[in-house]
Amino acid sequence: MHNTATAVALGDLAANEPAREFAFSDADFRSLVQLAREHAGIALSESKRNLVYTRVSRRLRALGFTAFKEYRAYLAENAGELESFINAISTNLTKFFRESHHFDHFRSQVAVPFINGQRRGDGRLRVWSAGCSTGEEPYTLAAVLRREIPSGARLDVRILATDIDTDVLGKAARGIYPLNAFESVPRPYLDYFEPVGDGSKESLAAAESIRSLIVFRRLNLIEQWPFRGKFDAIFCRNVMIYFDNPTKTALIDRFIQHIKPGGFLYIGHSESFHGTHSELQLVGRTTYRRKA
Ligand SMILES: C[S@@+](CC[C@H](N)C(=O)[O-])C[C@H]1O[C@@H](n2cnc3c(N)ncnc32)[C@H](O)[C@@H]1O
Repeated sequence: MHNTATAVALGDLAANEPAREFAFSDADFRSLVQLAREHAGIALSESKRNLVYTRVSRRLRALGFTAFKEYRAYLAENAGELESFINAISTNLTKFFRESHHFDHFRSQVAVPFINGQRRGDGRLRVWSAGCSTGEEPYTLAAVLRREIPSGARLDVRILATDIDTDVLGKAARGIYPLNAFESVPRPYLDYFEPVGDGSKESLAAAESIRSLIVFRRLNLIEQWPFRGKFDAIFCRNVMIYFDNPTKTALIDRFIQHIKPGGFLYIGHSESFHGTHSELQLVGRTTYRRKA
């Protein structure tokens, strides 16, 4: 533990700034903001100063530094730390069946028509959960799909679930959640979660029948994407909220290139856009259809 009085360089403190465990100057904040923008597209305004301090402090604690200046020097010399920095800075809030109207729409307009053979297209159903965080979104999609697939049917169905944050991806791949995470799961879908092997009654694990539909991968949305295929549906919800407008607009243009004609883009409740992407038609609450 470091004594606050010695750890904080007094010259770095503005008059109304709280005393902090670690010295944190304006230059430190600006430099970390720049890194987050450059490497993850995440735009952090002045109002996020405390958030940056709090989230990155845990890296300083883990590494035994007393000041952000030392951490910045370490970051500059250790490329591997960039991953931990991005993990620390990203916001990962999510839950099962979040904004459940999207899953109603997905079920009736994507899953059911595909499974009934009314809209098979290339014979494959491909869904992308872009910014999947700890996995609740792709497991929700998998449960919705699995419930519609008749048992024994052999259909080519796959959900790609990606995130930039390797910590949350690890949790997503484990697929084990505390019981209170299931409060938002409608009764019939609880069948796809089961007691964990160690007999713990505190958590449930995603069953193999839904796990097998999902592939988890690390992917940075602002970098190159390692695939050329198109998706029947892309869920990118509560991710672009952290990007600035040019980054968001460019990303939506790239999504459009990866949605099959007639396929859908689902975005977060506060992320709507108006008239800027003529290939997309608004067909429901924050639900867009790529024109055929
Ligand atoms: C708030 S969560 C949204 C989770 C889920 N989509 C939902 O709506 O519940 C935002 C996720 O976006 C991820 N993210 C942020 N910037 C990213 C980027 N450049 N590339 C990929 N994922 C990113 C974060 O790591 C985080 O897990």
